[in-house]
Amino acid sequence: MMEQDLKMMEQDLKACYSIEENFDTNYKMLNTLGEGKFSVVKRAFHVPTSTSVAVKILQNTKEYTSPICREARIMKSLSHPNIIKLFHVVQRREITYLVMEYASEGELQDRIIKVGSLEESETRRLFAQIVHAVQYCHDHHIVHRDIKASNILIDCRGNAKLCDFGLAAEVIPGQKLAGFCGTLPYCAPELLQAVKYEGPPVDIWSLGVLLFLMLSGNLPFQGRSFVDLKQEIISANFSIPSHVSIDISNVIIELLMINPSRRPTIHQIMRHPMIRGSEACLPPTSTQISQAPQATALSGP
Ligand code: ADE
Repeated sequence: MMEQDLKMMEQDLKACYSIEENFDTNYKMLNTLGEGKFSVVKRAFHVPTSTSVAVKILQNTKEYTSPICREARIMKSLSHPNIIKLFHVVQRREITYLVMEYASEGELQDRIIKVGSLEESETRRLFAQIVHAVQYCHDHHIVHRDIKASNILIDCRGNAKLCDFGLAAEVIPGQKLAGFCGTLPYCAPELLQAVKYEGPPVDIWSLGVLLFLMLSGNLPFQGRSFVDLKQEIISANFSIPSHVSIDISNVIIELLMINPSRRPTIHQIMRHPMIRGSEACLPPTSTQISQAPQATALSGP
């Protein structure tokens, strides 16, 4: 990396990062939990508190400085029992470490693959928890933009936790966003049409795709090619399996409205009997959270 790039990066990073000198002695890196294009997530052991944590390791390339900073800033601003907590950010010259709460039961995606599809009672409970997390984000003007089963983790108590804010955006109410973003089978139709779009409704659409997947074990839109898939999404061409109860089918239909302004807001979903009547009961803040290395958490503005 050029010296000038590094200087710029360091200035940019100062705003939201802390430097941890004892990182290598405090954290013992263990197995890999997941891998992305520019990052890897590993389980690690925090020696002073004997706690498992998840560490996202990101390469500080010039073009990634700003997204890394945004991800850290957004996660730092969030505190909710159904959102993976960011404990600590450690900046090195070439690498940034995001030290996060560890969810021992892994991705919801893997659970769905393992059991085929979820029971309605489990779906109602987990989905209600995810809706609570998304409501909290939208209330804090954060749009996730990549809600999907592999970004929902399950903790040791069986509770859902939203993770990976790498594509999230901070929005001013009414502000429109631009640019394709997210994971194609979960993408709202307006994202595929080169128009500016409102942030929150794209999360609502993805929740519809997720709810469908949890109950059926399949994605609602599966086109064999990009063109087919896009066409299915744009025309909201899906059919709900007959075993899904009528109240949940109606929720899926409402969430997957082609017109974003006709989709319910997250507050309207919260008031739906499916969510209101579920035993979502927010998990108590886990012992992990109270013990883990948060006291020294991020310094910053
Ligand atoms: N995979 C990605 N992030 C994780 C986390 N925080 N806990 C467990 N597995 C993960």
